[in-house]
Amino acid sequence: MKLSGHTVLVTGGSAGVGMALAREFYHRNNQVIICGRNLERLDRAKQEMSNLEIIKCDLTKDDEINRLVETLTDRFSQLSILVNNAGVQENYKFTEIEPKKALAAIDREIMVNFNAVVKLSALCLPILEQKIESGIINISSGLALTPKTSAPVYCATKAAVHIFSQSFRYQMEDEAANVKVFEAILPLVDTEMTKGRGKGKISPQQVADEVFEALKQNNYEIKVGKVKLLIWINRFFPKLAANILRRS
Ligand SMILES: NC(=O)c1ccc[n+]([C@@H]2O[C@H](COP(=O)([O-])OP(=O)(O)OC[C@H]3O[C@@H](n4cnc5c(N)ncnc54)[C@H](OP(=O)(O)O)[C@@H]3O)[C@@H](O)[C@H]2O)c1
Repeated sequence: MKLSGHTVLVTGGSAGVGMALAREFYHRNNQVIICGRNLERLDRAKQEMSNLEIIKCDLTKDDEINRLVETLTDRFSQLSILVNNAGVQENYKFTEIEPKKALAAIDREIMVNFNAVVKLSALCLPILEQKIESGIINISSGLALTPKTSAPVYCATKAAVHIFSQSFRYQMEDEAANVKVFEAILPLVDTEMTKGRGKGKISPQQVADEVFEALKQNNYEIKVGKVKLLIWINRFFPKLAANILRRS
């Protein structure tokens, strides 16, 4: 895939992995749009990259998703890459959390991590289909393949993103081969999401470096860092893989 001259939307591009991907696209001569809820964070990103376009949007809300797509259609109809990156992770025990609080957390995770990925893919497809070469890049996790104890809903949403990416890719290959569907499966990355926990984290920039190398080669399922090893262990020693990830 060509890596310059695109118009790119990176959801959650104001922090962590999304910001590293946005920065990489930006410095490779692409028009980059990022969205997120926190305007201060969006503004900070714009201070660093003056031609960046920022859009405030809460992806848990359908009306805001619709407004985002209207803005893309009206102002950025050249959109050719959608990066479904925004994500949240809630760590709690179902035996301990107050049920009403659990419902809010469950909704938030499913809406941002999975529903928004599917809805934005569907809503942006008419724009992407018109381009000679376009792409959707979904960000998933090693936890999609083998889960951990502390975040069942998060792991389930990432498993859903993994399977959705595969099946959606099949459809595009059959019906709209100009729309390439990528999935980046990430290991533990040093971001706000993982603050204060986990060992052996890689930097968001390392994620960006590996993702861009894979995009260049049209490697549709991008196994970043230790995810390559995890997949190997999971194939030959599934119980070992489960035990390693269970307490991670
Ligand atoms: N960090 C890891 O170890 C790791 C591992 C595997 C996969 N991943 C995946 O990588 C992606 C990025 O994670 P990260 O670690 O970079 O997280 P992060 O540093 O916490 O950044 C998350 C981004 O998503 C945005 N966001 C969160 N909720 C949103 C909402 N409701 N609407 C719009 N934007 C929202 C945030 O902006 P606002 O808060 O301003 O909305 C922020 O820009 C996620 O999909 C995550 O699941 C991360």
